[in-house]
Amino acid sequence: MAKSRSGVFEKEASTLLDRFNASLPFDKKLYKEDIEGSLAHASMLAKQGILTKDEAKTITNGLKTVLNEIENGEFVFDLRDEDIHMAVEKRLGEIIGEEIGGKLHTARSRNDQVALDFRLYVQKNSLHLIALIKNLIETLLDIAKKNVDTMLPGMTHLQHAQPINFAFHLLAYMCMFRRDIERLDSSYKRSDFSPLGSAALAGSSYAVDRIYTAKELGFSGITNNAMDSVSDRDFALEILFNISVLMMHVSRLAEELILWSSAEFKFITLSDEYSTGSSIMPQKKNPDVPELLRGKTGRVYGNLIGLLTVLKGLPLAYNKDMQEDKEGVFDSIETADISMRILNETLKTMSINRDNMSKACAKGHLSATDLADYLVTHSNTPFREAHFITGKAVARAEELGVDISQISIEELKKVDDRIGDDAIRFLNLEASMNARNSKGGTAKSETLLQIKDMEDWLTGFK
Ligand code: ARG
Repeated sequence: MAKSRSGVFEKEASTLLDRFNASLPFDKKLYKEDIEGSLAHASMLAKQGILTKDEAKTITNGLKTVLNEIENGEFVFDLRDEDIHMAVEKRLGEIIGEEIGGKLHTARSRNDQVALDFRLYVQKNSLHLIALIKNLIETLLDIAKKNVDTMLPGMTHLQHAQPINFAFHLLAYMCMFRRDIERLDSSYKRSDFSPLGSAALAGSSYAVDRIYTAKELGFSGITNNAMDSVSDRDFALEILFNISVLMMHVSRLAEELILWSSAEFKFITLSDEYSTGSSIMPQKKNPDVPELLRGKTGRVYGNLIGLLTVLKGLPLAYNKDMQEDKEGVFDSIETADISMRILNETLKTMSINRDNMSKACAKGHLSATDLADYLVTHSNTPFREAHFITGKAVARAEELGVDISQISIEELKKVDDRIGDDAIRFLNLEASMNARNSKGGTAKSETLLQIKDMEDWLTGFK
């Protein structure tokens, strides 16, 4: 009979119930956290005199054996044990005997146990994701530093708008990823309180030392209310949200990689290692990696909505519905993990076709705004009128079949007599780009400052 079934049961559970009820197939991922939690709990029970020192020692050694068995693949997982907590406890009893093994669960419930294990798992993976995002920012910084002078058309509405440099474009993504790190970090801090000792829902009648176990497990403190402690899954929601936003950023970058690697743009070439072929068209190289990054973002959003929905109607405290909290979190973490790694490699190995980026700048009259700005500053023309005049100049350039940056000064002057000989230098694309030197702008001087700021932040972030 499974351990969770007390003397109150006369019959075994049906196999259908075992299958339906069990979380072991997926929550076995929590084995390390479960054993860590049990070690801290046993040590606390001994310190408080609830267990003898010898009993605690036997339990500790037994738990370490269970850990080894799981890590060496010798552990036999049995669905009838329901979950990882019961599976570990059952094996412990087999190894050290029920007499002592049966004492581990004193002053504890699976409710505070699972709340603890899952929280530790989410915390560990938040740090892991932070490290992966840092690597990604480092890669982007490397590419940016080599491309401060690489001009490309900045776009709005996917239409050519104003000239920018490639480093500046990548810095926009670095800003997003920096916020992703900050979000994971702040969620970590909010979740850094141990629920252990909350027991089933109302706290424990034993003299447990919650602060001791919290310290043993590396938490900054303990949770305040036992009932909240066993029903709170905000930390799980937060990592699902944080990963959703992270993947939304990844997806936007992925979309640009797809566009940039197309024949229409040809701004980048993805390396063979990270491109795929077509089963019918031998000439094709497909951007499956960024497409999958974009596609996987959907399932990550699904996991967030799934858990929000599971939790929304639950009365306090623990309800079995909450067992549904884990798979989505595991899936989102795994998806984010592989996504960050492959995005990093894809970026590191792609080549940047600077000439094509630069050629694209000669289309779309990118420096038109600069002519309007020239009229405002040089002849005190109201901006709206300058905007209109510039529109006429662009129309004339179109008639002549040239970009505004290539039009002759003679033609330009015919458009409006407020346009003087000096106007032409403002239409130069590089000048246009470097004119945008407001804080955070694309001018080379500002781009270099943004790179420096990002580097300083990254080295300062612990
Ligand atoms: N497997 C359960 C879960 O993941 C553990 C907690 C069980 N608690 C209970 N009262 N049945 O939620």
